[in-house]
Amino acid sequence: MRRILVTGALGQIGSELVPALRQLHGAEAVVASDVRIPSAGGDPNGPFEVLDVTNARQLQDLVQRYDAGTIFHLASLLSATSEERPQMAWDLNLGGLYRVLEVARENRAAVFFPSSIAAFGPSTPRTGTPQDTIQRPNTIYGVTKVAGELLADYYAKRFGVDVRGLRFPGLISYTAPPGGGTTDYAVAIFYEALRHGSYECFLGADTRLDMMYMPDAVRAILELMDADPARLRHRNAFNITATNFTPAELAVEIQRHLPEFRIVYRVDPVRQAIADSWPESLDDRAAREEWGWRPAFDLAAIAADMLAQLRLRLFT
Ligand SMILES: NC(=O)c1ccc[n+]([C@@H]2O[C@H](COP(=O)([O-])OP(=O)(O)OC[C@H]3O[C@@H](n4cnc5c(N)ncnc54)[C@H](O)[C@@H]3O)[C@@H](O)[C@H]2O)c1
Repeated sequence: MRRILVTGALGQIGSELVPALRQLHGAEAVVASDVRIPSAGGDPNGPFEVLDVTNARQLQDLVQRYDAGTIFHLASLLSATSEERPQMAWDLNLGGLYRVLEVARENRAAVFFPSSIAAFGPSTPRTGTPQDTIQRPNTIYGVTKVAGELLADYYAKRFGVDVRGLRFPGLISYTAPPGGGTTDYAVAIFYEALRHGSYECFLGADTRLDMMYMPDAVRAILELMDADPARLRHRNAFNITATNFTPAELAVEIQRHLPEFRIVYRVDPVRQAIADSWPESLDDRAAREEWGWRPAFDLAAIAADMLAQLRLRLFT
């Protein structure tokens, strides 16, 4: 059986996707890789390799050495970090994807590539954002995501590479910290609520964005990659969402569990501008119809589970 390679495996998604893949396929079948090495005490349950995805030779060697038949390509700079380092964002986000698609073409491997709500921009309809609509983002992160979606479509059509993808909303999780995105507040708020009883939010109170809990995100990746290709009209860049809320609404939900919790706002203009250019709510009917997408966690369920899990991690 051909193995699975995960790039950027130590990040927020990879640290939960790798254990899920190992549970399904066995530890030895899943090769985790990242440009950095796991911290002491990190997940030792299976092969790990250092891989810089911008290094074509390293990537080719690894795919051939392990006979990787599927690549889950997660290595990327996120939205806020990309604005700080736009040149690197281009090289890593698009250059890395190009190299992954090339190696997949040469080795007949399938690819998963996550896009984002950042692939939309200020001229996109903001509510009920359709699957197929205007995509003119004004962030470098968004530019790399749109270009990546198009490149993935091209490799599927021109070379027959089985590349599939999702446009993720903000992802909320407790295993690994988020990597420098605009929706990071929705994770940090839980840590600060439990540790200090208050949180200073870098987005304004009424900034509405789509969000999803990591167990839903991981399940979506696995279900899409498992879907019958005959039913996939889009294949790549499916809108998916689970819920949407504002910082003020999230604070009220946390107060149901921690009545003393307080939120204050100190808006970061860079991240606020990014958030203001994104949709408030995606229409994910294509994902629901073509491969049966259904989220399991709404805002109440996310808040309850985050607080329960973090209490265990922080205080026991
Ligand atoms: N987390 C979210 O909320 C979210 C939302 C939408 C889309 N996405 C997308 O999902 C993917 C994964 O996101 P994440 O949240 O896990 O990101 P993350 O920042 O947590 O992890 C990215 C990982 O890539 C690694 N990396 C950086 N440069 C590398 C290189 N040159 N070679 C190999 N690895 C390298 C980093 O060390 C890190 O472990 C990205 O494409 C991201 O754009 C994430």
